[in-house]
Amino acid sequence: MAAAVLGLVAGSYEQIIVGYRVKTGEKEWTAEADFTHHTHTASISAVAASQRFVVTGSKDETIQLYDMKKRTEHGALLHHDGTITCLQFYGDSHLLSGAEDGLMCVWSTKKWECLKSIKAHKGHVTSLSVHPSGKLALSVGTDKTLRTWNLVNGRSAFIKNIKQNAHIVRWSPDGDKYVVVINDKVDIYKLETASVTGTITNPKRISSLKFLNNSILAVAGDDESVRLCDVEKAKWVCEFKAHETRVKAVDSFTTEDYCVLVTASNDGFIKMWKIHLKEKLESPTLLGEVNTSARLTCLAVWIPSSVQQTDEKPASEATTSKASTLTITGSRKTCQIFMVPTLNLLNK
Ligand SMILES: *[C@@H]1O[C@H](CO)[C@@H](O)[C@H](O)[C@H]1NC(C)=O
Ligand SMILES: *[C@@H]1O[C@H](CO)[C@@H](O)[C@H](O)[C@H]1NC(C)=O
Repeated sequence: MAAAVLGLVAGSYEQIIVGYRVKTGEKEWTAEADFTHHTHTASISAVAASQRFVVTGSKDETIQLYDMKKRTEHGALLHHDGTITCLQFYGDSHLLSGAEDGLMCVWSTKKWECLKSIKAHKGHVTSLSVHPSGKLALSVGTDKTLRTWNLVNGRSAFIKNIKQNAHIVRWSPDGDKYVVVINDKVDIYKLETASVTGTITNPKRISSLKFLNNSILAVAGDDESVRLCDVEKAKWVCEFKAHETRVKAVDSFTTEDYCVLVTASNDGFIKMWKIHLKEKLESPTLLGEVNTSARLTCLAVWIPSSVQQTDEKPASEATTSKASTLTITGSRKTCQIFMVPTLNLLNK
């Protein structure tokens, strides 16, 4: 039977990238050590995964590439002059990177050329997010601005003075809204009006967040709890203790039946949580966990191109051995309409 195909990749203060292979089961999931890389010479600050590649950014100012198909290190992107602060794939064709040098770069994943290097902020770029259509990107930086980029022509479309330094910006999966994080506060914006429709405050500084669907946002910060926010109502709808210490990173993916939230903490653990996003939100249940014994800084779920997999059943359940399939619907469903024409323009 096919082995489980899902992977978890985490970066650490100790310069190491750790990869785990997830084995999914009816009740319990396990994460087995798959690889470690030690290509960086400083702590890891960002990680992202496409179907084919995992990329990591570091304080050492480089972006390292790993080919997950060939299972090899695939070189480095040496363009930035400062800590890499954010990395985001757009589908399988493009990567965007941001760094403390104030640059936002658009890379083609084909030959890993830099298609565009934009001086995006006067200070550091702290976070960026590409709209699901591939036409717009948002960025925030230490110059107290929120900037909208037209990816069709690579130009600045809009600059909003937000009076404080934001450190996270993120589009919702449908692209009708976005959130901007300043310390412990999440401002929810509507695309149409570019105005704040709600604000929600976390007890501690926010380290990471992820939209689980278009209205539920998972928020982690400098405490051991993860909170789920309904962004339509700007209300917390769930809170649970996920770790022993600060949660540093969250990611998620969707199966046919439920959402899996993955959390990584300073306590060294990566945990997988099952959340049913039905009409009524249920409390998350722990699917599995692994002690990486590293001080984790960032996390990404790697979902390879084969979207279907067959679960292995424990022998004791052999009487009901009809293989169940797990279909990862992922967050990539919008990625096929994207910016091939768009970035050809950028490339001129
Ligand atoms: C997201 O999940 C919530 C909570 O389970 C649910 O009530 C809501 O309808 C879902 N929203 C969308 C857009 O699917
Ligand atoms: C995790 O692993 C580390 C190193 O192997 C160990 O020192 C630590 O006690 C473990 N943590 C738990 C909670 O088991």
